[in-house]
Amino acid sequence: MSGDATRLAELFDRARRAVAFTGAGVSTESGIPDFRSPGGIWDRFDPNEFTYANFIGSLEGRRKYWELGRVTYPVIRAARPNAAHVALVELHGRDRLDCCITQNIDGLHQAAGLPPEKVIELHGNATRARCLACSAAYTRDEVHAWLEAGDAAPTCPACGGIVKPATVLFGEAMPEGAMAEAERRAREADLFVVLGSSLVVYPAAYIPLHAREAGATLVIVNLAPTPLDARADLVIRGRAGQIMSAVLERMDR
Ligand code: APR
Repeated sequence: MSGDATRLAELFDRARRAVAFTGAGVSTESGIPDFRSPGGIWDRFDPNEFTYANFIGSLEGRRKYWELGRVTYPVIRAARPNAAHVALVELHGRDRLDCCITQNIDGLHQAAGLPPEKVIELHGNATRARCLACSAAYTRDEVHAWLEAGDAAPTCPACGGIVKPATVLFGEAMPEGAMAEAERRAREADLFVVLGSSLVVYPAAYIPLHAREAGATLVIVNLAPTPLDARADLVIRGRAGQIMSAVLERMDR
């Protein structure tokens, strides 16, 4: 690992415009389970039950979603940034990171100190919710309190409409602005570093390919193999927190 960390440190030192692309694997060291590792969320729950169509289509679909959300949200709320998040903030502070494109909904990059405008959330954010009818905004803490009080599928106190978290469900349209910004930043990058993603969910997984096609050096730091490993210039098998801390130590001050 140390040779790889040294190589990645050199790449960050020399990069004109480095972009990080993160997945759930960057938050596992904060206690948030990922989706596709053994024991991950989709090992325990069927993703086909948590689609946008199911959520919008029936009260039962919403009840099922909130049953899971009621369990997962307290874990996200209790989580604190780990060494991987902190390393990205340090890189940004040294002007060695242009932005962080994330698939994660936990807000830990912002909590660690990355400016919100430098975090591009492709799959939304679990700390916010909105009424689909009148667009009234609610915090996830408010919605969680309704769930804890026994409301199995909360509706909007203002108009009775469906309240939905500000996360992108399977089959839901991606946030156009975030996707366009992510693609633009990827194409302008000369170093594109994936941290903790299985790179199996599209269209998010196209973003590293846009960077590679536009000439960026592609690095993948992940515990498990990914389908894009063969397209990467450097693959580092290991924990994002440990590796990114080692990279910082090896960089020029
Ligand atoms: N360091 C590095 N890699 C890690 C670590 C870690 N500490 N912990 C887990 N990993 C790796 C796993 O081996 C796995 O390959 O991170 C990857 C996480 O992959 P997924 O669980 O599939 O998460 P992600 O790639 O973010 O999923 C994309 O799928 O379910 C949807 O919307 C959800 O945004 C999510 C999307």
